Amino acid sequence: MGVNDSSFLDACWGRNSGRIPVWIMRQAGRYLPEYRQLRERVSFTQLCKSPELIADVVAQPIDRFGLDAAILFSDILIPLEPLGVGVSFPEGGPVLASRITSPADIERLHTYDVATHLPFVLDGIRAIKKRLPSLPVIGFAGSPFTLACYLIEGKGSRDFDRVKQFMHCHHKAAERLINLLADLMSDYLAAQLDAGADAVQLFCSWDGILSSDDFHDWTVRPVRRIFDTLKSYQAPRILFVNNIAPYLDVVGEVDCEVLSVDYRVDLSKVARELPHRAVQGNLDPSVLFDPVPRVIERTLHILDSLEHHDNLIFNLGHGIQPATPLESVHALVETVHSYRSQS
Ligand code: CP3
Repeated sequence: MGVNDSSFLDACWGRNSGRIPVWIMRQAGRYLPEYRQLRERVSFTQLCKSPELIADVVAQPIDRFGLDAAILFSDILIPLEPLGVGVSFPEGGPVLASRITSPADIERLHTYDVATHLPFVLDGIRAIKKRLPSLPVIGFAGSPFTLACYLIEGKGSRDFDRVKQFMHCHHKAAERLINLLADLMSDYLAAQLDAGADAVQLFCSWDGILSSDDFHDWTVRPVRRIFDTLKSYQAPRILFVNNIAPYLDVVGEVDCEVLSVDYRVDLSKVARELPHRAVQGNLDPSVLFDPVPRVIERTLHILDSLEHHDNLIFNLGHGIQPATPLESVHALVETVHSYRSQS
């Protein structure tokens, strides 16, 4: 068993001469009727803890659209539970059972062994590999700062004022928290690679609220620490930064194979400024609500804007929205896949 001839992996290494690969952030999820049907009888948390069901939902968008990579089905907040912070996923978004309000709360977090406490994630990856033996599987984790946002805020937030206050009022404790999370996410991603993941993606979903100095301290430094640990696996390391534009210079300091780019910035600008990285992105997920001809036009616009396609992985610039029409996704995938045979 193994992944041969993967356009996705080739593109990560900047040497894809075949069809341009495409996958979609949140590709297994509520926009799919078959996912919604499964969710009627299984909660999101139960789903994340059942390796066979993980493999089932991971295969759903692959079977429907013929995407070029599978991504583990889980959530970036699942690794918080063994730290001692319960997480639930009600309709309005994730909620934590407690939140960090003082340095003492950080001392109370218990670090743990990934294989012992999150076996269902690793078994989930093994089940996906069995189900989809010829497709690359992407493992993932949240960035230390994004996880710290949830730990300090207790839930999602628009501006994360409490987090920013905490990081500045308790600088030393914040540093301990970020380092603890960086070490844990290094172990977590290494365990996913050991279980058979072919690439890993780190989600900096909220890091984009930081000033560029703070982005250096709270994002670049810990992300380097994580990615340096993973280098020896020789598996592509993908860095997603939501709102990457203000930080292009500092992001260049991170040793990684792929930059996953949000929809706000011109993808060709990122490709030009950081030519030694593959790029992944970056259609605005809301474009999928346009009529199909417009979806095709906007997809072609991104493809045409790039000088090189050997290092391109097409994706959305953020997660797909639950109400997205399926025909838009079909049109997107078809447009990307037929691009090179046309030109
Ligand atoms: O991409 C995939 O298909 C893999 C699965 C995946 C999920 N969450 C499943 C999920 C991945 C990679 C994530 C990452 C994640 N989770 C991020 C980083 C990506 C990003 O969006 O920036 C963040 C910030 C979270 C936290 C989170 N989990 C939020 C904000 C929400 C609620 C919003 C929403 O979409 O409902 C979740 C819940 C969640 N995670 C769902 C799914 C499929 C919906 C749960 C359901 O089925 O009811």
